[in-house]
Amino acid sequence: MVKSFLIGTRNASPHLHEGIEVLRKGGSIMDAVETAVRGIEESTESGNVGVGGAPTILGDVELDASIMDGATLRTGAVASVSKYVHVISIARKVMEETPHVLLVGDGAHRFARAMGFEEWDLSTERTRMIGEAIAKDIAEDLPDDFRGKDYYVQAIKSQKLHEWYKRLSNEQYGTTNVIGMDSDGNIVVGVSTSGMSWKYPGRVGDSPIIGAGNYCDNRYGGVACTGKGELSIRLLTARMTIKYLEEGMSLEEAITKSFNEIHGLKETGTMQCIAVDKDGNTISASSARESTHWYMDVDMEEPEERPGIWVKAD
Ligand code: GLY
Repeated sequence: MVKSFLIGTRNASPHLHEGIEVLRKGGSIMDAVETAVRGIEESTESGNVGVGGAPTILGDVELDASIMDGATLRTGAVASVSKYVHVISIARKVMEETPHVLLVGDGAHRFARAMGFEEWDLSTERTRMIGEAIAKDIAEDLPDDFRGKDYYVQAIKSQKLHEWYKRLSNEQYGTTNVIGMDSDGNIVVGVSTSGMSWKYPGRVGDSPIIGAGNYCDNRYGGVACTGKGELSIRLLTARMTIKYLEEGMSLEEAITKSFNEIHGLKETGTMQCIAVDKDGNTISASSARESTHWYMDVDMEEPEERPGIWVKAD
């Protein structure tokens, strides 16, 4: 029997103890994952999750999140939320209170309001500075015939913006992932993000797409992704990794196969993930560098950093 535990990405590590405290007080693994993710959403430290997240080309912050229950395969998600910070909790409400799986934009706002969530200003000084920086770059880069046009049209035609998209590193997709497993083997995965920096308004990444950035099934394991969602959406990376576990691969073999599929797309951008298997083994992987994840169980005072793997392109 495993001790109940949480694992998370680097940005989650300062908040794992908040989730562990919930478990110590008798809360469920779903409560623990939600609590840890809420801690990150509310802090301005990450710069890519919750308040102070990365802005779109128009300077707004739009958040995506999802939560999945490996016991029932029930799940909830929200996307393009610009008025509320605790998108992980709205996603949970979508799972628990609606017949749906995913609500977006104004529909998600309306639902959050009905559920009693507090509105939140998601921008910070840093968000505004990043927004101004892209506006300046775009203004310097415009062909003459675009001057005076609507700013959105100018932005999406800007060569500089598109060159910049190609250079994006993981920091510009700095999603947070938290996976929990309790001593009965129940797995929950929570994912929350502001998505890609300087994205088109309305762009949705892998985080709220079940099967792409989030998947779990108590019988096999759980997976959560960070990185360029445009890659994992096309390959259903989280779901396929679980499928490979089901076929009998080890956690490392399954992740390696999924990341080789990412490399096979031969596209710019990187992918990272954290994962657990049904026996409580944990791993993280990156397509671009050394990888680590943070682990904390109910008997620990502090999270420990655990090494993962770097799946290099052939
Ligand atoms: N993985 C986060 C995103 O692509 O939005």
